[in-house]
Amino acid sequence: MAKKIILLGPPGVGKGTVADKLTKKLNLPHIATGDMLRDNTEKKTPLGIKAKSFMDKGLLVPDEVVIEMVRQRLKQDDCKDGFVLDGFPRTINQAEKIDDLNFDEVINLQATDDIIIKRLNNRRVCSKCGSIFHLDYIKPKQEGICDKCNGKLIQREDDKDEAIKERLKVYRSLTEPLISYFKNKGILVEVDGSKTPKEVFESVVRVVS
Ligand code: AP5
Ligand code: MG
Repeated sequence: MAKKIILLGPPGVGKGTVADKLTKKLNLPHIATGDMLRDNTEKKTPLGIKAKSFMDKGLLVPDEVVIEMVRQRLKQDDCKDGFVLDGFPRTINQAEKIDDLNFDEVINLQATDDIIIKRLNNRRVCSKCGSIFHLDYIKPKQEGICDKCNGKLIQREDDKDEAIKERLKVYRSLTEPLISYFKNKGILVEVDGSKTPKEVFESVVRVVS
């Protein structure tokens, strides 16, 4: 049976880190709207140019742009046996637009703002393959170089202090209400995202098994 999972949670809680391992384990596509938007900004597509001004400031890209992008992606063949959504939905309006998809679980990762800020300040991502590292917690073997593809590690534009503050504000006002939304549907499962990467992953695997 197709497995459809949503990873919900504040910026920097570890959605991408968990999704990467989980999709490999379940052999499902990892659909991360942030990654898709960044791919578009790098390629300077019309969508990417529009999205960049919002993303760099830590604001959400307008719903209609993101909803259409996800709708198109979910039509692709690799999604027929399920998928893991990471970073979508992010507003009640986005959630309503995918209500028809019958999700199995919405996993809500949580951690305090202090933990999140420490994670985001020292995150490094591969400019080539998008792999995620942390200067203290998930260190690359060689400084500045991706373990997986030897690409250059960079800091995301929105991992600067001002943008982090804005992203947390936006999360509280627009995304946090989704917790009650999915709780009311009976498909929300809470996972403590403040534990070690291994512990968080094991908790998530228990939820989906
Ligand atoms: P997006 O890329 O989705 O950013 P985000 O939600 O802010 O989340 P992050 O990717 O920053 O964090 P994460 O939870 O994936 O954490 P990670 O695993 O990297 O979106 C970016 C922007 O795109 C948005 O601001 C918006 O503009 C736009 N956008 C995207 N989706 C949209 C939508 N649906 N609608 C409108 N606009 C949208 O981990 C963080 C760090 O912590 C890493 O360094 C990692 O190594 C480390 N780490 C992870 N787990 C652990 C652990 N357990 N212990 C210690 N360290 C850990
Ligand atoms: Mg992410």
